[in-house]
Amino acid sequence: MAQLYISQDMLSDFKKEFGLEQYNVCELGGNLVLPEYRGRGITTELQTIELELAQKLDFDYIISMAHPDNISSQKTLEKVGLKFVKETKLNNGFLRKLYMLRLK
Ligand SMILES: CC(C)(COP(=O)(O)OP(=O)(O)OC[C@H]1O[C@@H](n2cnc3c(N)ncnc32)[C@H](O)[C@@H]1OP(=O)(O)O)[C@@H](O)C(=O)NCCC(=O)NCCS
Repeated sequence: MAQLYISQDMLSDFKKEFGLEQYNVCELGGNLVLPEYRGRGITTELQTIELELAQKLDFDYIISMAHPDNISSQKTLEKVGLKFVKETKLNNGFLRKLYMLRLK
């Protein structure tokens, strides 16, 4: 499973966290692969498709977040070109590493 979140209302708190309030932003998230299929490049492939879709949909930035201990999640984001921005505690209290990529 891989999801691309596009609702600007839903992303408004995250956009603030990234300093991207004035831009059209989408988010990579909701990644889940059955344990026996992990490490075969499935998420990397799905996120590559999502990036192409985000470009077609004319978004300015694509963002994502990963738990600091979730190495495979961070690796997939880095493999498709997202850059680490900072580590932060979100409004909901969860610690997350923030990643983003400018699309145009
Ligand atoms: C995160 C998740 C979606 C990744 O899916 P995946 O299809 O296995 O990812 P990929 O195979 O595309 O890439 C994983 C990369 O992490 C690497 N990796 C995994 N565990 C690692 C570790 N402990 N140390 C270093 N690298 C690690 C893999 O080697 C691979 O990199 P490579 O292709 O360069 O070798 C999957 O692990 C998962 O479902 N986890 C549980 C749910 C979750 O945490 N979701 C993310 C939060 S929304």
